[in-house]
Amino acid sequence: MQSFDFQSSIRVVFGEDALDQLGDLTTELGSARVLLVTDPGIIRVGILEKALDSLKAANLDVFVFDGVEENPTSRHVADGVRFAKDQGGIDLLIGLGGGSAMDCAKGINFILTNGGRMENYWGVDKATKPMLPSIGIPTTAGTGSEAHSFTLIAQEGTHQKMACGDKKARFRTVILDPVLTTTTPKRVTTATGIDAISHAVESYVSTRRNFISQMFAKEAWHLLEKSFEIVVNDPENIEARSRMLLGAHLAGTAIENSMLGAAHACANPLTARYNITHGVAVALMLPGVIYFNNQAVSTLYQELHPVSLHERVSELKAVAELPERLRDFEIQLEALPELAKEAAKQWTGRFNPRQVSEVELLELYELTY
Ligand SMILES: [Fe+2]
Repeated sequence: MQSFDFQSSIRVVFGEDALDQLGDLTTELGSARVLLVTDPGIIRVGILEKALDSLKAANLDVFVFDGVEENPTSRHVADGVRFAKDQGGIDLLIGLGGGSAMDCAKGINFILTNGGRMENYWGVDKATKPMLPSIGIPTTAGTGSEAHSFTLIAQEGTHQKMACGDKKARFRTVILDPVLTTTTPKRVTTATGIDAISHAVESYVSTRRNFISQMFAKEAWHLLEKSFEIVVNDPENIEARSRMLLGAHLAGTAIENSMLGAAHACANPLTARYNITHGVAVALMLPGVIYFNNQAVSTLYQELHPVSLHERVSELKAVAELPERLRDFEIQLEALPELAKEAAKQWTGRFNPRQVSEVELLELYELTY
């Protein structure tokens, strides 16, 4: 049996309207001055207001930084740090939103407590000083960022994704309130849902897989696979939304213990170069990666789906009506070798169950072209 080092210390509060407990949960962490990190979309749908009501009922001072955008860069983090310093005495952070808001909150925590720039924390366990306690509240069933200690911040200018991981950056408390996800627009539900599915599939077979990570990944897969079509066609279905949110969270827990694989390695350059949404980029690459990996991990894939995981994932993609081919994005065939070169630099590719160098990654891009 593969050895593992599993450390579970996140408090997870799950349930319809669990957001109403935010004030009390924040107080329990000993906070008085809160920085809440979010994006304008969350304000528009009324989720921020609900969060503020709960925090104010607990007599907390709250400062809202709403400067987060999709695929946050080191500039967004720096803006948030400046805002936090202007308020002074911030003692807790809340990330409220999709993966971008939660990642940005984690990024701000790194710099606010340890100084320097995001580049200084690229890699694992680079921070030396303690960080502030933080609360993660996902409003999409997708990244699972609330479950793990990594933040993905794009480098300003190059747009290269910097994966910065540190246990100290992990949220202390997580609120999973499925009601928040019912306002998610269809294009976001599909892209983030497929991303969560890819997290379950990739972490289940990664070279770092172990008993605990597979337990989370397998349960995540079953919750997500059962519910994805329902939330696409019936977005108000709270039971299916609940299963998706919990599935995405469990997949995030699996990532913490086993990392991802080639679908994410190939997706990151597509986002950096062509601005393709992360979930859409992953969805483009995932079926090809399953096909490619099958000769190495066919038994494991069968554990997820007894007939054909490749077919099932392709079916789910079809339900989502996500683009099928790279050429749909006006990517030139001649650009593929350059993409493969960039994909080979992605840390996450190292954990793919079949070794992938630039040559194999080019094959994967060609397969999807
Ligand atoms: Fe992802």
